[in-house]
Amino acid sequence: MEGTVQLVQLLLPLVLPATSALARYTPDWESLDARPLPSWFDDAKFGVFVHWGACSVPAWTSEWFWYFWKGEKDPAFEAFMRQNYPPDFSYPEWGPQFEAKFYNPEEWADLFEASGARYVVLTSKHHEGYTLWPSPTSWNWNSMDIGPHRDLVGELGLFLREKNIRYGLYHSLLEWFHPFYLLDKKNNFTTQNFVKTKVLPEMVDLVNRYKPDLIWSDGEWEAPDTYWNSTEFLAWLYNDSPVKDQIVVNDRWGKDNPCKHGGYLTCYDKYKPKSLPKHKWEMCTTLDKKSWGYRRDMQITDVMSYAEIIEELIEVVSFGGNYLLNIGPTKDGIIPPIFQERLRSVGSWLRINGEGIYASKPWRVQMENTTPTIRYTAKDSAVYAFFNSWPQDGVLELLSPVPRENTKVTMLGFPELLNCQQISTNQPLIITLPQLSTDFSENKVWTIKLEDVE
Ligand SMILES: *[C@@H]1O[C@H](CO)[C@@H](O)[C@H](O)[C@H]1NC(C)=O
Ligand SMILES: *[C@@H]1O[C@H](CO)[C@@H](O)[C@H](O)[C@H]1NC(C)=O
Repeated sequence: MEGTVQLVQLLLPLVLPATSALARYTPDWESLDARPLPSWFDDAKFGVFVHWGACSVPAWTSEWFWYFWKGEKDPAFEAFMRQNYPPDFSYPEWGPQFEAKFYNPEEWADLFEASGARYVVLTSKHHEGYTLWPSPTSWNWNSMDIGPHRDLVGELGLFLREKNIRYGLYHSLLEWFHPFYLLDKKNNFTTQNFVKTKVLPEMVDLVNRYKPDLIWSDGEWEAPDTYWNSTEFLAWLYNDSPVKDQIVVNDRWGKDNPCKHGGYLTCYDKYKPKSLPKHKWEMCTTLDKKSWGYRRDMQITDVMSYAEIIEELIEVVSFGGNYLLNIGPTKDGIIPPIFQERLRSVGSWLRINGEGIYASKPWRVQMENTTPTIRYTAKDSAVYAFFNSWPQDGVLELLSPVPRENTKVTMLGFPELLNCQQISTNQPLIITLPQLSTDFSENKVWTIKLEDVE
């Protein structure tokens, strides 16, 4: 016993400075909003979002299928059900058909790595309430009891970690048709049956079990953060949870919170500011322009083109944002080949041009409305200028950079120094672009690197 006491006394001075140096967060927005965002998130810039669950079984029109059918009673969804299913069919009957038969998380992780993504966000639970992990509080509505009989969240995490890809978990606070949620709603959210028995235990379970790097909260909009006990949860997350140092969260923690409180800003889906925001933000968007979840009625014209993706990525990063690009796998766990092709193309582009993307900062000028449009980022002593159409005369004009005597100009992926000149300081910088093989000019968006400019 004595020995133990001595050991504890010995350890204490070593342990104390580390913890006491860190302020403890209190469960209010003033304290929580002041937490610095762990730097990995701003450095990462590009992530892949994955919407998957029982909604991938009907796979028609939208992952909001259940709500359009039973919540809004949308005639198109009612007709779809009449035509394809018996009259008494209920949504949970799709659970057993969500088999994830060909789910290969190692192949997924290979694809995400090839895409150049530095983080991946998976829907651990969408508004339908089905959990992609064996949640003890989602009895008979989780991926271990019903459907795949596997821990889908855990398996993907193992392979992402091996590749040093950060792991984010999307989590919906609300569940459209959970009886406790409906009861609390009826009570105008003056009771917390659902939060106490479902939301908080599940969020704590997710954190302790999978040690995520990011929680992408959603489904907050019907009730205030005081109903969800969001500030209490976040104070625990930031002070005492096993992920307190690396965890990053978004801003969807209660009605009226988005764009105001939390970690980084997502505001609303596909949010994209037109000038430089003061606060770190992320644009989430989806390869299938009309849905986040997989749907069988997707047309090729609904899928974002390679050029659209790259241009948007650059636009977002130039304004200091992160770009979170969504795919919807099938109920079998197949990532549709068209999504694979798009992700791999982004990766090929990033392998050449990523130097100006990852860990970059917004420059003093973010864009020039010239032809072609120029967007800028900065890193260390370099400025990167992205342009999306090749000038016919092979000469690119940049208005904003002020070169010094020793400024070096190159194009990423092309080894030689480029010829550049500026007649006087208020004239554009004129860069003679290299002669390219057709292969390379098909890249569609190119990056000029200016080292040591003002
Ligand atoms: C909830 O609010 C509505 C509208 O203010 C009111 O009519 C209703 O009685 C309230 N219900 C409860 C259970 O407090
Ligand atoms: C939410 O936080 C309040 C204030 O700390 C506390 O009184 C309440 O019990 C919490 N509710 C739940 C469900 O944990």
